[in-house]
Amino acid sequence: MRKVPVAILGATGLVGQWFTYLLRDHPWFEPSVLAASQRSARKKYIEAVNWVLGSPVPEYVRDLEIVDPTTTAVAAVDDVDLVFSALPPEIALTVEPEFAKAGYAVSSNASAFRLDPEVPLLVPEINPEHVKLIEVQKHHRGWSGFIVTNPNCSTAILSLSLAPLHRAFGLRRVIVSTMQAISGAGLEGLFALNIQDNVIPFIAREEEKIQTETLKILGSYQNEAVKPADFKITASCHRVPVSDGHTEAVFIETERKCDPQEVKNVLSNFRGEPQKLNLPSAPQQPIVVLDAQDRPQPKLDRFTGNGMASIVGRIRPDESIANGLKYIVLGHNLIRGAAGSSILNAELLFSLSYL
Ligand SMILES: NC(=O)c1ccc[n+]([C@@H]2O[C@H](COP(=O)([O-])OP(=O)(O)OC[C@H]3O[C@@H](n4cnc5c(N)ncnc54)[C@H](OP(=O)(O)O)[C@@H]3O)[C@@H](O)[C@H]2O)c1
Repeated sequence: MRKVPVAILGATGLVGQWFTYLLRDHPWFEPSVLAASQRSARKKYIEAVNWVLGSPVPEYVRDLEIVDPTTTAVAAVDDVDLVFSALPPEIALTVEPEFAKAGYAVSSNASAFRLDPEVPLLVPEINPEHVKLIEVQKHHRGWSGFIVTNPNCSTAILSLSLAPLHRAFGLRRVIVSTMQAISGAGLEGLFALNIQDNVIPFIAREEEKIQTETLKILGSYQNEAVKPADFKITASCHRVPVSDGHTEAVFIETERKCDPQEVKNVLSNFRGEPQKLNLPSAPQQPIVVLDAQDRPQPKLDRFTGNGMASIVGRIRPDESIANGLKYIVLGHNLIRGAAGSSILNAELLFSLSYL
């Protein structure tokens, strides 16, 4: 089978590095164009990248010459069908529509279009039917290509755990307090944060993203639009001295009473379209429940399901309210929370013949 040639925009950044790594030996996709800023343009990848992943730079990208997507735009990626974007949001805002207009499928990590009513915000296990927005988007904008997005990192991890609970018990209210890894701040944040012996109780725009994106993801597709879910949600976000892996303390109130054992079964047995379709990046079990009192922990558990699972633990009643329950959820912010999700979205599109 001929592999789909793909471009990675923002290939030198933290998310971009994970794209190059996760796409090595991918059965369907093959990166042939790497793009970054003018700082990196015309250099070989190996010369431009400040590689921070534990494993070596994949052989196939080392000598690829980087292009600048803002100046050379569409012409530079002529031979490509699919574009993965790990651009900063302000750059994505102008660059991604140019690609969509020119006929490319764009699978984006950036926040620029996540809340656009005509752009799918996909978690394929939860809302694969939201891909129908692609036709609405193309029709209204006259584009031959399209944009799909994946959620912000904490939202991706959280929403996976909430979806089966919403279906089984009906969510009335969600409170979430996050403890987020420094790699969530990108390469610049990795080196600039004053994080040792410290907790930083603010992450710009993160709380708003969790509060809005979660409701869109768990919303229903009706009359060519997504109607957001109607439970209440509030978030408090904190940066902690952990390299990779976001941990979230979640407190929920449900319509119907839920006991911890039932919740455990609902979460462990949850499967979605990626598992049915056997997509290459789909974890066999999207939600893994751990019984030990002191798990999940980022250092021990973030690579569960190759970094694509949400790992849940400490499921217990919240006796301060009726129908209250609390738990901890953990996920890898750069895999399920970023590059891995974007790749899973593209695999879903490929299997549904959108590519
Ligand atoms: N880190 C996470 O956990 C995470 C999770 C979910 C989503 N995201 C989102 O994913 C995107 C990338 O995040 P990141 O953490 O990988 O950021 P990053 O490490 O700062 O990387 C940014 C990338 O964008 C490129 N870039 C910067 N300015 C550019 C310009 N003017 N034109 C073209 N390319 C430009 C950089 O190229 P140079 O190397 O040449 O400067 C680099 O490749 C962001 O939208 C972020 O919000 C991040």
